[in-house]
Amino acid sequence: MRCISIQGTARYESIIAKRGRKLALIARFLKCVGFFSLIGNNSSLEHALQGNCVNVLIAYHSDYSNTKKMADAIAAGMKVSCSTANITLRTALETAMDDLVSADVIVFGTPVHMGSMAWQLKQLVDRAGKLWMEGALEGKVGAVFATGGGFGGGGGGVETTMVSLHSNFLEHGMMVVGFPKSLPGYADGGLQWGAYGRSGDHQGMPATVSEAALAAARSYGAHVAEMAVKLID
Ligand SMILES: Cc1cc2nc3c(=O)[nH]c(=O)nc-3n(C[C@H](O)[C@H](O)[C@H](O)COP(=O)(O)O)c2cc1C
Repeated sequence: MRCISIQGTARYESIIAKRGRKLALIARFLKCVGFFSLIGNNSSLEHALQGNCVNVLIAYHSDYSNTKKMADAIAAGMKVSCSTANITLRTALETAMDDLVSADVIVFGTPVHMGSMAWQLKQLVDRAGKLWMEGALEGKVGAVFATGGGFGGGGGGVETTMVSLHSNFLEHGMMVVGFPKSLPGYADGGLQWGAYGRSGDHQGMPATVSEAALAAARSYGAHVAEMAVKLID
């Protein structure tokens, strides 16, 4: 299934939406006549017929809503490049193993806490260790984002936080999508590993992630969905 590039116009978005509605109608008809029960529990076929580009899970932790804003922006960007993507947002603590297994794309987001990820996300990473034993996440697409208070452009530990999330995805045999410098917004909220928002001001006091960082997160989301469709097809 093909998705439009992030430079796609509203015209393409409406064509894709129409195609999605048509496929959804076909899927609903097949459901009514019992087609899916006849061929067994084939949820991926049902999913494909419904015109969904990809199943996305965005799992994040956020105490003060900055990381949540980034999660919402990434989801919004994904919808732009892949209007039929099926996106689930969950906090790290409420994320179940089934959420990870049923996703084609897993996006992890965290605030930087003392130079690394928040314990709530680490707890999810560790819980998913049993999926590593089963190889259940192999071949899925991973992407990451983080927020930090600052000081400095990258903040205190944001890069290492993102890299450690990449390491975890790679350990599972997943494919990782970074944030290429050619994407819109890279200068405001991109690091090669993923999307970044700085929530502290220049005095080191809490502020909020900037609109520019949220725009970069939308751009990253659009890119991740587009890449995921290419990689998974
Ligand atoms: C316990 C704790 C430790 C933190 N450690 C760091 C740090 O090491 N580096 C940094 O840049 N920001 C640090 N911060 C700031 C947060 O990363 C930043 O405010 C983040 O945007 C909060 O995200 P949230 O609003 O989603 O909770 C820390 C915040 C807390 C509460």
